[in-house]
Amino acid sequence: MLEIGADGRIWLLSGPGSSYALRLTDGDELLHLHWGPRIALADAEALAALPAPRYWPFESQLDGHEEYPVEGGPRFVRPALSVRTEKRRGTEWAFEAYEADGEELRLRFTDSGLLINLHYRMRGDVVERWVTLANDGAAPVELLRADAATWTLPEREGWRLSQLHGRWAAESRLVRSGLTYGEKVIGSRRGHTGHQHLPWVALDTDATEERGEVYGCALAWSGSWRIAVAQLPDAQVQITGGAGYDDSGLLRLAAGETYTTPVFAGLWSDGGFGGASRAWHAYQRAYVIPDADRDRPVLYNSWEATGFGISEDQQRELARRAAATGVELFVVDDGWFGARTSDRAGLGDWTPNPDRFPGGLKPLADDVHALGMQFGIWVEPEMVNADSDLYRAHPDWVQYQPGRRRTEFRNQLVLNLARDDVQEYLWEQLDGLLSSAPIDYVKWDFNRCFTDAGWPGDAYPQRLWVDHVRALYGLLDRLRAAHPSVAFESCSGGGGRVDLGIMSRTDQVWTSDNTDPLDRLAIQHGFSQIHPARVMAAWVTDSPNTQLNGRVSSLRFRFVSAMAGVLGVGGDLAEWTEEELAEARDWVDLYKEIRPVVQRGDLYRLRGPEGGLSAVQYVLGDEAVVLALLQAQHHGEPAPPLRLRGLDPSATYECRETGGIHRGAVLLHHGLRPGLHGDFDATVIRLRRI
Ligand code: DGJ
Repeated sequence: MLEIGADGRIWLLSGPGSSYALRLTDGDELLHLHWGPRIALADAEALAALPAPRYWPFESQLDGHEEYPVEGGPRFVRPALSVRTEKRRGTEWAFEAYEADGEELRLRFTDSGLLINLHYRMRGDVVERWVTLANDGAAPVELLRADAATWTLPEREGWRLSQLHGRWAAESRLVRSGLTYGEKVIGSRRGHTGHQHLPWVALDTDATEERGEVYGCALAWSGSWRIAVAQLPDAQVQITGGAGYDDSGLLRLAAGETYTTPVFAGLWSDGGFGGASRAWHAYQRAYVIPDADRDRPVLYNSWEATGFGISEDQQRELARRAAATGVELFVVDDGWFGARTSDRAGLGDWTPNPDRFPGGLKPLADDVHALGMQFGIWVEPEMVNADSDLYRAHPDWVQYQPGRRRTEFRNQLVLNLARDDVQEYLWEQLDGLLSSAPIDYVKWDFNRCFTDAGWPGDAYPQRLWVDHVRALYGLLDRLRAAHPSVAFESCSGGGGRVDLGIMSRTDQVWTSDNTDPLDRLAIQHGFSQIHPARVMAAWVTDSPNTQLNGRVSSLRFRFVSAMAGVLGVGGDLAEWTEEELAEARDWVDLYKEIRPVVQRGDLYRLRGPEGGLSAVQYVLGDEAVVLALLQAQHHGEPAPPLRLRGLDPSATYECRETGGIHRGAVLLHHGLRPGLHGDFDATVIRLRRI
C-alpha cells in the first residue's frame, strides 16, 4: 500500500507488517522518516514535523538522514551517486514530480540534463529500491558511482552486523560482530558475486533466533559490487550499495543513454533472525525464483566420482544405477565437449567430443529419458581455453589489455561478453545445443575471476564490468524464452555466483564444491539466513570425502545433511555396495515424500551447526519435518530435546516414524528427543497434525 501526505511531499509504503516513509523538504532534500513496524500516515507526518537536528559547525545536517546522498554540497558521507560532466562534479538536484503506480513509487529529480529516478516498491514486507539515470542533455555524463539505494536505520545503541563470508569450498559462513564507528565495506572486485561475501547484510541490536528486530539488505547483482555499512558520529547507521566496487568509473552515458541500477532489497522483521530468514525466503519464492512452486528433482552428477574421465558407456551405466536409486535428473558434468579431456583445453567449443559421444548427446539423453529421468549437461559459456578452436579463431574475443599479460586461472580466459559478436556466438552455440538433444537442465558454471578486464578499441572499456553481467542476464533470458522447459543452475566453482539477480533467472544454485556433510552444516546455516532450501543444491558424495578432507561419515549423516536442500547424489555409484544402493534408495524415497515441506515450507533453525547436535525444522500446512544430526556423542549423554517451532500449541501431532502422539504445546515448550547416539548419527522426524 502507498499513501501520500496532503502536501504531496510525504510518502508511506506499507506491507502487511512493516512500513517505510520518506519526505521531501522545501529545499528538495529527500529525507528518511521511518523503516520498521507498520505505521499510519499521521505517524509519518508527526515524524516529519519533528525539529531538524541541531546545527553544529563541522557537522552536516543532512548526513545520516538522506535517502540517496549525492556527491557535493554540505555532505561528508560516502555518496550513493557520484557523477562527472565536462563542466561539473557532483549533483545538485531539483525535484520534478512523483508517480504512484500501484505499489511502486517513483520520484523524479533533475540536474542539468541528468534525470534521476528513485524507485520504491513493496513486495510483501520487502522494500525493493533501485535508481534509473538518463542523460537528457547533449554532453556525456560519467557515472563514477551509482548505488541502488541507501538505507537508514533508526537511532539505537549497540548495532551488530551479520555477514556471510567465505572462500572457495567454504562459502556463506555467518559472522556477527559489533559495529564500531566508521565504515565496514564488503563486496567483490572480481567481476562475479564472489565466494568471499554474499551481497547481504543484517543489522540488529539484541535479536535472537526467534525474537527481536532485524534489518536486512540484499543486492540483486551478479558482477562486482559493494555494500558499505557506516556508523556515523551521531549514532546513525546507513547502508549504501550497488554494482561496481570502486568509484573509478562504472559507465559513461552518452546523450540519450540510460542506466538502471540493480535492485537493492530491504527487509525489517521483528521475528528475530529466523523470522527475517523466513520473510526473505517467502519473498524469493513469491517474486524472485522462477516457478518456485514447482519442486526441484533429485539429481545425480558424477563430477566428484569421475572428474574429466567420462565416456558415454560409463555415464550410461551410472545413469542405470542412479535411476535404480530413485534419481530423477541425470547430469553429465564437465568433459563432454570439444577437446575437453582435462581443464587445459576445449572451453568455448560447445559441440560433443566425437571420441566420447560419437553420435552427439542425443543417444545418451534418450537412454536417460527411457530410464525415467530428465537429462542435464554442464556448460561454462563465459570462458575459453587458449587451447580451443574458438580462441584460435578469435583471440581478440577475450578480456585483455593491449601489451599486457593475459592472466590464466585454471588455464582459461574470460570472454568479453560485452561484445555483440561474442553474445551472438554464445546464443547460437547454446541454442543449437539445447535444440540438438532432449536437454532438460543446464548447470551454468563460471570458474575464474576477472583480472585483465580490458577492451582494446572501446572508448570506455570500464563498461565491460557492467555490460558483461547484462549480457549474461540477456543470454539467460533469451535461452529461457526459447527453451521454456529447460531449468538452469547457477554455479561458480560452487557458490561464487549466488545473489538475487542470478536467482531470478535460474532454478537453483550450486551451494559449494565442499560436499563434506559436516562442513556443509555451517555453509547451509549461513546460506539459509537469506536464501530458501528450494534453491540450495546439496549432494551426497563418497566417504571418505574425496573432494576435500577425507572425512569418514555415515551414509545416513550424508543424506540427512543434503536433504536440507535440493537433494542430489554425487558419489561414485559404481563403487557403492548393493546395501548402500538399497539404503540410498530408501533415503531418496523419503526425501521425495518430505520434499514439498522442505522446498516450500517455513524454515526454523532449531540448533546451529556448532556443538554436537544440529537441527532444522520445516513447516508446511499440517506437516512438519525435523532433520537432526549428531556429530559426536560425549560422555554417553543423550542428545538434548529439540524444542520445535511453528506448530499449533492446541493441536495434536502424530510422529510418522514412531506412531507416537504429541501435544503441540508440549513439543513447543518441552521438545522432542531426537533419539540419536554415537558419531555421525542423523534422523528425519515427520509430524502430521491430526
Ligand atoms: C566447478 C563446479 O563447482 C564443479 O561442480 C564442477 O562442475 C567443475 N567446475 C567442473 O569443471
